[in-house]
Amino acid sequence: MRVLVIHGPNLNLLGEREPGVYGTMTLADVDDSIAAAARDLGIDVTCEQYNGEGEIVGALHAARGRYDGVAINPGAYAHYSYAIADAIAAIAVPVVEVHLSNVAARESFRRISVTAAACRGTIGGFGANSYALALAALAKTEGRSG
Ligand code: DQA
Repeated sequence: MRVLVIHGPNLNLLGEREPGVYGTMTLADVDDSIAAAARDLGIDVTCEQYNGEGEIVGALHAARGRYDGVAINPGAYAHYSYAIADAIAAIAVPVVEVHLSNVAARESFRRISVTAAACRGTIGGFGANSYALALAALAKTEGRSG
């Protein structure tokens, strides 16, 4: 099974970005933990990070036929990007939304995710382990045809 992990905007600054909220792991540390979880699950994983909305849309399109699942942390785009929501809905590849923080327990604007509605499910609040949980979920999720 091949899974693509997409990290959205500002996640390249993990480690120095609001450590009280997002912890002290850098993105490289997070990717190492994802690789370890993928090894345990027998998953072939690739991690990418994009700050731009269009780049994320492009990465989702490019996942067609190349990956069996996508775990995406859309960052703040989760709260307002209908373009990313449409891209997730457009592809047959199953997508799981991931958040490091528990967005339900934060500012009110973070309680809405327009992208989550297009995903198979959402996992958040467990720090870097949210990604490992998403991989485990994808390992048991079937794709749709067409
Ligand atoms: C985040 C939560 C978002 O609200 C925020 O804009 C982020 C990170 C998370 O992983 O907890 O950039 O997606």
